[in-house]
Amino acid sequence: MDHFIYRGGALHAEDVPLTEIAAQVGTPFYCYSTATLERHFRLFEEALSPLPHLVCYSVKSNSNLAILKTLAALGAGMDVVSGGEYRRARAAGVPGERIVFSGVGKTREEMCLALEGGIRQFNVESVPEMQALSQVAQAMGVVAPMTLRVNPDVDARTHEKIATGRREDKFGVPIERAREIYAEAARLPGLRVVGVDVHIGSQLTELAPFEAAFSKVAELTRALRADGHTIERLDLGGGLGIPYAASNEVPPLPTEYGTMIKRVLGDLGCEIEIEPGRLISGNAGVLVASVIYVKEGEGRKFLILDAAMNDLVRPAMYNAWHDIVPIAEPAPGAVRDVFDVVGPVCETGDTFARGRPLAPLAEGDLVAFRSAGAYGAVMASEYNTRPLVPEVLVKGDHFAVIRARPTFDEILARDTIPPWV
Ligand code: LLP
Repeated sequence: MDHFIYRGGALHAEDVPLTEIAAQVGTPFYCYSTATLERHFRLFEEALSPLPHLVCYSVKSNSNLAILKTLAALGAGMDVVSGGEYRRARAAGVPGERIVFSGVGKTREEMCLALEGGIRQFNVESVPEMQALSQVAQAMGVVAPMTLRVNPDVDARTHEKIATGRREDKFGVPIERAREIYAEAARLPGLRVVGVDVHIGSQLTELAPFEAAFSKVAELTRALRADGHTIERLDLGGGLGIPYAASNEVPPLPTEYGTMIKRVLGDLGCEIEIEPGRLISGNAGVLVASVIYVKEGEGRKFLILDAAMNDLVRPAMYNAWHDIVPIAEPAPGAVRDVFDVVGPVCETGDTFARGRPLAPLAEGDLVAFRSAGAYGAVMASEYNTRPLVPEVLVKGDHFAVIRARPTFDEILARDTIPPWV
């Protein structure tokens, strides 16, 4: 459920008509709903209660400072995967003890940054990384709290590019080797083992792969405890999917996910950490674009928008489906037209949808891509020297630009020409 609804014939974000934002900000732009963000965060809080837990919002899904601050105010922890994301979380006021540091290639500089600024734990993904972390911590005279990310060899049955828990994926260490690596961790002077970490992929639409992975984590936790390690936290990663196509996808609800976690892991007495991104920010955002032209092609009609693959890359990159809706509510029973929805970028890959039935649309009309709050703005680029798409946050009946569209002067000023050119 989200707060983008038709009212009086126009799509609103909460109480603000999207046409009003478009008139002020220009298109394309991302628009986020505070109420939707907060609602989705709270769903996880409720789903895990009464287990001791921390919901660490996955910053990569939408890292705007205003979004982070909104979630931080509700007590969210953060999952970061780079020094940049760590800085964002801190800048949004999140204390170090609520930040977990994930990622397959943390540099020594990033480790140092987080150890200096405060960190809840590093989710370590390899033996060389573990050794480096111990050295960095030792040189700083501190001890780094760590979990080991295990790879349970479970197929998340999601898109090839976002599955992370199979043996052949680059993530984590094979779960069969975990005991031996934990033994080495215990010998390293700069480390303190605090738990186990797992994340098997993103946009999962069934619970079974999670359950398979978490069962293996439960078994490992018992074995590690028998080996003498203190396992007080289980970080279960993110990955719960959202319904992109309103009509035909029904991923499990956070409550069902929470119930399964309690059943599989509840008796271990561990604090549960989760790292949801998409389920919190995804349906909390839309991308609004204008129709530049309607072009009659060979046996098809192209709807050419002013948004492109550089603004929302998911369709080009993962063949992802986003519902596209007109901002002006179509009359009930309006006959649909069929469009190939494309952007102006000079590649055929710049196609959002093929053969999509939509309400009749004409030049100047506005459309919204739904469920674009996660992995939308954060993956945008300035390809074709198209200014980075701006972001707007709505709360009730007011809105604010939370990242402005750069001017062309700003864009050009970022390049420097060496004296010999
Ligand atoms: N934790 C870790 C260690 C992750 O790698 C990820 C996502 C998450 C948490 C959050 O997963 P979520 O709850 O959002 O599914 N760009 C792709 C998604 C990439 C996900 C990468 N890792 C997309 O647009 O679908």
